[in-house]
Amino acid sequence: MKFVPMKKLMAHAMKHGYAVPSFCAWNAESMATILAVCKRLRSPVILMAGPGEFPVLSPAANAAVARTMLARYRVKAALHLDHGDSPALVAECVKAGFTSVMLDYSTRSFEENTRALAKVCRLCGPKGITVEGEIGAVGKTDAATVEGSTGSRLTEPEEAAEYVKRTGVDCLAVSIGNAHGAYVKLPRFDFERLERIHEKVRIPLTLHGGTGTPEADLRRAIALGIAKVNVATALIAAYRESLLTQWNAGRNLWTPIAQGEAARAMAPVVEEWILRLNAQGKA
Ligand code: 13P
Repeated sequence: MKFVPMKKLMAHAMKHGYAVPSFCAWNAESMATILAVCKRLRSPVILMAGPGEFPVLSPAANAAVARTMLARYRVKAALHLDHGDSPALVAECVKAGFTSVMLDYSTRSFEENTRALAKVCRLCGPKGITVEGEIGAVGKTDAATVEGSTGSRLTEPEEAAEYVKRTGVDCLAVSIGNAHGAYVKLPRFDFERLERIHEKVRIPLTLHGGTGTPEADLRRAIALGIAKVNVATALIAAYRESLLTQWNAGRNLWTPIAQGEAARAMAPVVEEWILRLNAQGKA
């Protein structure tokens, strides 16, 4: 079984009124937990990794482990580079076998972002690899969060349309009041803006900063073109909580056992997100 291009999963999601969950996956245990739950619930999934995950496994190692896990669980899945920060990292992930890539130049100028993504599309298009770009900038809730820019800038619908036309990206990350990390207070999405972006840009849209988004907002966003939702903080929080609980219980953290337990603690979060995005039974 092979990883499929992310655009194939998103096209199905758009047609059938759900969003594909995109979970950060940094090692064999996290991949095993995610894929096992997806198999049980018959959900498609995107395994994503980026500069925040590669300190554990390099792109080549991440892809090799992911392929091994996919062969075991046999789930409809894409392997995605999240928040790629350089063309060199994009090329490395393409070489490693990722089936989709994001080059995040959202904090650069419009011209620089456009030129760089058009180049990524020229590299990836002939190989059938999906490309994600971002226009506007999705910030973060706090300094502890690894992903997202320090500032935030909402997506302008006209600019988004021009960006898509000039670059040829397959999907677009939007900034509509969403942020990476744990929300301190509930986000207020600008749905009117999302609707205008969706009207002008007929490609699938992606929502970063999934953690903490109210379910009603997710449903509304899906109806307005969101076909992929990224979730990282909620998974990492479950993993960290498990390690802390084990530590506070005075257990001698024999790390292979402790990490296995921590990875399994992410299973309820994975299940919750599949149901929230209405992705169950879609694979
Ligand atoms: P959260 O960490 O808020 O779930 O967002 C993840 C994300 O968007 C990764 O790109």
